[in-house]
Amino acid sequence: MTAGELTLDDIDLGNDVFAERVPHEMFALLRKEAPVHWYDWQGGEGFWCVTKHADLVAVHRDTETFSSETGATALEDLDEDQIAARKSMLDMDPPGHSRLRGLVSELFTPRTVRTYEATLRELTRVVVERALALGEFDFVEEIARELPIRVLARLLGVPDEDTGKLIVWGDGCIGNTDPELTDVLHESPESEKYRLVPFRSPTALDIFDYGHWLADQRRHDARDDLVSKLVHAEIDGQKLSSQEFDTMFLLLVVAGNETTRQAIAHGMNTLIEHRDEWRRLQDSPELLRQTGADEILRWTTPVLHFRRTATRDVELRGTSIRAGEKVVVWYISANFDEEVFDDPTHFDVGRSPNRQVAFGGGGPHYCLGAHLAKLEVQVMFEELLPRMSDMELTGPVERLRSNFTNGFKRMPVRITTS
Ligand code: HEM
Repeated sequence: MTAGELTLDDIDLGNDVFAERVPHEMFALLRKEAPVHWYDWQGGEGFWCVTKHADLVAVHRDTETFSSETGATALEDLDEDQIAARKSMLDMDPPGHSRLRGLVSELFTPRTVRTYEATLRELTRVVVERALALGEFDFVEEIARELPIRVLARLLGVPDEDTGKLIVWGDGCIGNTDPELTDVLHESPESEKYRLVPFRSPTALDIFDYGHWLADQRRHDARDDLVSKLVHAEIDGQKLSSQEFDTMFLLLVVAGNETTRQAIAHGMNTLIEHRDEWRRLQDSPELLRQTGADEILRWTTPVLHFRRTATRDVELRGTSIRAGEKVVVWYISANFDEEVFDDPTHFDVGRSPNRQVAFGGGGPHYCLGAHLAKLEVQVMFEELLPRMSDMELTGPVERLRSNFTNGFKRMPVRITTS
């Protein structure tokens, strides 16, 4: 079917579609004909799809009308006990959200993140040099997934030898709709056993157990790391509850790992597909910091959507949304909105201005790790590109079966070093 023949009845935003590709033509049709579109879904009540940049930003900034309290990641309809058990700061509105975020935000400000750069570059060099020595390898496994977890491990205080476990467990959560990554698919009846656990994923329990172990260590032996900070933190004279600690630890592990991995993997694939832009970055490496990293983030949009729930009847772009209905904001669509980006399907590492929303549309939940993630992307390509004269795919890229994460599972490559 060509894009011209596509109708709104053909819109399919299910996981199977994203296992094959990003359906950009469907989002283009939605932006044009039904920018606030009701989508019926097999997994529960349907939801509104918000696909225009301006509407996505408006939804993010109006937390009183578009609340995160009933779940920001789950498209499923959660019962009260599930909401309470699974709630992290991501699933809260101010002021509760602000109190928890305030405990960790200082470690992610632009100024603090700048102090990580030397360590981050050292870690990047180790990862890159080890992988490039292989000549032929899986880019996702050897490069893209290695850096973010190592950076996160340093921040959290996780020993280097345990990062492999966190990768597998985090992948189990994010891959909860992909049979290769989980034994308990989100849509399977068996997942009912895990209904009180984030992502309905058994590996979320492994992350909790690991967090408990690490917290125990740091309770007796505080260090200069995030887990020590959380263990000793107080809000209004109270230590964090076990539920608050667990969900914060899990959120940091999952949010900071898979997302940046995908920006790096997709970023490399995109440069393979756009040699002229690759050469531009090689000739003018300063472009990466000025504009290139933002364009890689726009183009790759690692997080495809998040959810809010309307707290009152409201109109959005002329469409009536009723209190209690789910509103899903599609970053992958907003980042290609023709009204905001000139020639949006052109990958241009010099694009300026670039109002990409890969990290969210603003408001209190704007990605905590945005500065860190961007630095990781910048440093990774600053270290990779000068070392290579060529890279080619030696097999197909394999995608994650997920309409939540724009994920690559495998990307076999051969490189020629400079
Ligand atoms: C390219 C990489 C990344 C992308 C695309 C990304 C994307 C996002 C998006 C879209 C949100 C907004 C959620 C909402 O509005 O409901 C978010 C929130 C968040 N991100 Fe990131 N993220 C990335 C990297 C990171 C990193 C490295 C960390 C580090 C720990 C991180 C931690 C978080 C946390 C904790 C939140 C929740 C913030 C809150 O609720 O206040 N992210 N991210």
